[in-house]
Amino acid sequence: MERLLVTGGTRLRGSIAISGAKNAILPLLAGSLLSERPVVLEGVPSLIDVKTMKDALESLGVKVNWTGDTMQIDPSSLRSLEVPPTLARRMRASNLVMGPLLGRCGRFKVSYPGGCTIGSRPMDLHLKGLRACGAVIDDDHGCITAEAAGLQGADIHLDFPSVGATENIMMAATLARGTTIIRNAAREPEIVELQNFLNKLGARIRGAGMDTIRIDGVKKLNQEIAHRVIPDRIETGTFMVAAAITRGEVLINNVIPEHVEAVTAKLREAGVSIKEEDDRIIVTAPSNWKAVDIRTMPFPGFPTDMQPQMMVFLALAQGTSIITENIFENRFRHVGELRRMGSQIRLEGRSAVITGIKDLTGTVVEATDLRAGAALVLGGLAAENTTIIEGVQHLDRGYENLESRLKMLGAQVSREII
Ligand code: EPU
Repeated sequence: MERLLVTGGTRLRGSIAISGAKNAILPLLAGSLLSERPVVLEGVPSLIDVKTMKDALESLGVKVNWTGDTMQIDPSSLRSLEVPPTLARRMRASNLVMGPLLGRCGRFKVSYPGGCTIGSRPMDLHLKGLRACGAVIDDDHGCITAEAAGLQGADIHLDFPSVGATENIMMAATLARGTTIIRNAAREPEIVELQNFLNKLGARIRGAGMDTIRIDGVKKLNQEIAHRVIPDRIETGTFMVAAAITRGEVLINNVIPEHVEAVTAKLREAGVSIKEEDDRIIVTAPSNWKAVDIRTMPFPGFPTDMQPQMMVFLALAQGTSIITENIFENRFRHVGELRRMGSQIRLEGRSAVITGIKDLTGTVVEATDLRAGAALVLGGLAAENTTIIEGVQHLDRGYENLESRLKMLGAQVSREII
């Protein structure tokens, strides 16, 4: 078992660069399946989830060569249409191969990803969209199989702007006959990124970033391309909070400031100074900060993936904050762990009421999921004495070299294998 030891009390100072976005690269890797020509992806972060998606592509017969931050994918060798259950269960995002396999080959078989620690995360919207395009889907016995004699464009209204469902439908519709319209589509930057990537390959998609996306189906994607993935907005936000919670000053490079506007606005409201310059952000923390209320919402609202990190920041604010989680029904598992560090947080249904205190105390805590783990690291950076974080494998799914990059900013962090 690996664990992180974080000794708090150091103000973070210096500069770091943000890695490519996990939640952008995963759909791009899946989307490569639509093409018949080689694809080069640049800025690929070294993450367990990216490795899992690479394994999923390879299990389908696709050739993938990953060197440094560049990945070469040859989708022409696609042979199998079935993702092995062990891979599908390892990562929910493996379901993103459904749309491309259906679009290109008219068939797929994947294991149901099932529930996870942050919520039940059903797949109904994905399947509803694919069925509307003509797929016949069977989702019994923990397995989803689909067939389509040829996908047909459709007018689809999503009940909720699901990121994954929007991506799967966009990818399936890319090679469908006719036009598909997705209404109440997700507007996240990762959706715009997927549109840009698919259009480079030869797709005809417009509207991503707005709530209606129009996909005019094309016969095939056959442009050979290289594409650099956008920076990770959640990693950016996490480093912004790391600077703020340690009362430090950090220059964060390779950022798209518009992608973190909601986080910037809340940190500013709390009293943190944030300067935006083209592709960088400078965060300068005050000695004390104010309580603020947060409601997580689909983009451009406050991201659920930053909710745990902001909670630990607000645990040290002056006054009482309320955080309402509107996206996932069970994304408060970090609360118990933060309480063990001394924070005063009370749960009331979908809301957490956080009464700010002066100091957190380091102890042994467990990361129950990726962002919960990030919150505990941030808590550890601000706490008196040492915090021991177990469940580090969750952090490795979504943060590239987290401890060495925090160390570059002066943090006292180390990894221990026991
Ligand atoms: N939902 C349904 N039915 C569906 C699909 C979704 O009810 O068919 C519900 C979910 O249960 C959830 C809400 O809709 O309550 C939002 O889910 P969404 O589909 O938008 O999320 P996702 O595509 O599964 C992506 C990110 C998550 C991020 C969410 C929300 C990837 C690979 N994952 O998940 O990232 O929290 O969007 O922004 O893009 C993370 O990085 O830590 C992470 C969990």
